[in-house]
Amino acid sequence: TSNQMWGGRFAAGPDAIMEAINASIGFDQRMAAQDIAGSRAHAAMLAATGIVSDKDAEAMREGLLTVLSEIEGGTFVFSTTLEDIHMNVEARLKDIIGEPAGRLHTGRSRNDQVATDFKLWVRDQFDAFESGLLALIKALLAQAEVGADWVMPGFTHLQTAQPVTWGHHMMAYVEMFGRDLSRTRDARKRMNECPLGAAALAGTSFPIDRDMTAKVLGFDRPSANSLDAVSDRDFALEFLSTASICAMHLSRMAEELVIWSSAQFRFVVLSDRFSTGSSIMPQKKNPDAAELIRAKIGRIFGANVALMTVMKGLPLAYSKDMQEDKEQVFDAADNLMLALAAMEGMVKDMSANRPSLEAAAGSGFSTATDLADWLVRVLGMPFRDAHHVTGTLVAMAEQNECDLPDLTLEQMQSVHSDITSDIYEVLGVHNSVASRVSYGGTAPSQVLAQVARWKEMLE
Ligand code: ARG
Repeated sequence: TSNQMWGGRFAAGPDAIMEAINASIGFDQRMAAQDIAGSRAHAAMLAATGIVSDKDAEAMREGLLTVLSEIEGGTFVFSTTLEDIHMNVEARLKDIIGEPAGRLHTGRSRNDQVATDFKLWVRDQFDAFESGLLALIKALLAQAEVGADWVMPGFTHLQTAQPVTWGHHMMAYVEMFGRDLSRTRDARKRMNECPLGAAALAGTSFPIDRDMTAKVLGFDRPSANSLDAVSDRDFALEFLSTASICAMHLSRMAEELVIWSSAQFRFVVLSDRFSTGSSIMPQKKNPDAAELIRAKIGRIFGANVALMTVMKGLPLAYSKDMQEDKEQVFDAADNLMLALAAMEGMVKDMSANRPSLEAAAGSGFSTATDLADWLVRVLGMPFRDAHHVTGTLVAMAEQNECDLPDLTLEQMQSVHSDITSDIYEVLGVHNSVASRVSYGGTAPSQVLAQVARWKEMLE
C-alpha cells in the first residue's frame, strides 16, 4: 500500500530494504517530547494567525497531549512504516482527533520540524553538559582547597620537574573544565535561533508568525534564512566539538588517575565505590571508571568526525544524509554525561596520599631549579652558569645515590666555593612551592586565591 502521508503520487509501497534504510523511528523517538512541543507551538500559532480555527487548534492541543501521555506511558506503538517520529505522532493524532490533524502540517515541513526538534534536544544537552561541568568543577575546588599546600612532584615528559601543590594540580583541571563551561555557554547562545517556519526550504505563503513560535519554544529569535535554517547542523557539530575538547580533558585526567592510583605511584586512593576487583587476583583494586572514561572518549571524537563527514559535501538545503546526525549526537551526549558524572564521583571520593606525594615531591632532584635560582639571586651568577653548576651538583648526588639536600656543604663547595649553608633552605620542597608566588604560580597563597576567585564566579 502506498504511504498515507504522500501516497497520492505513488502506486506502490516501498521495498522492505527501502523501509529499513529510510526509517529513523528506532532512534528519533527520543525526540518525541520535543516534536510534540514544536507541534503544539505551531498549532497555537496557526490559530493565533487565523490560519486554522480555534476549535481545530484546541483539538490538536488536546490530541497532542494525549499522544505525549501515551508515549510517556509506554503504550504508544511506534511504526517503522511511518518512518520517523514526526509522522508517527501525526498519524496517531489523526487516529485520535480525525480531520483537524491534517491541518497541523500547514506552513510547515518535516525539514524545519526536524531541525527544530533536534535543536531543542541538543539545547537540553548543552544544559546537562553545563550542570555536569559545574558539579565536576565544584568537586575539584573542594580537593584543591583541602590540599592547597600539599606538595607533590610536578612533571614534564612525565619526569619529575619541580614541586607543585596538590591544590595547584586540581586547579589546572578547574581551568580546563572552566573553558569547557564557557564554550558550552557560548555555543548554546549561538544556536538559540528557531528554524520552525522555514518550511521545506523557502519559507511559506501562509501568514505565519515565526516570532511567536520562536518565543514559545524558548528561542531568542527565528533563524533569518530559511535555506540555512533547514540545512544547518552547526549546533550539533558545536555540541560534538565542545564535547570532544571536554572529553579530551576528561581523558587526560582519567589517565592521571590510572597512573596515580598504581602501586608504583600511590598518589591517590580511589574509593571502593569507584573501583572494581579482580576475579583472580585478590589484592587488586582497579581504576575501571577512569579507564572507561579514557576509552569512551573515542566515541565522542568519532561522532564529531562522523557528522563533519556527513555534512561536508551536502548541497543546500535538506538532504536525507542529515538524518544520520541524531545517533551520533545521542551516543556522544549519553557517554559524555556518564563520563562527567563518573569523573565527578571519583574526584569527590578520592583521597590524596599526602605522605606519598610529599616523598615523591622531594625525589628526582625536583628542587634543582631552586638551587640554580639561589646561585643567581645570592651569588649574582648568570642563570646559564648557575644551570651548569647545578647540573654538576645533580651529577654528584646521582653518583652518591642521594638527593640534593643530602650533599654536604663541603661537597657543594667543591663545585663552587662561594656556596653557603643558606642554600639548604631552598632545597626543601615546602620552601620551593611557597616561593612560587608569581601570579598563577603553585604557591599555596596563589592556589587559595584562585580557589576563592572560582568560588565567587560560581556563586
Ligand atoms: N527523519 C528525517 C530526518 O531525521 C526527517 C526529515 C525528513 N525530511 C525529508 N524531506 N524527507 O532528517
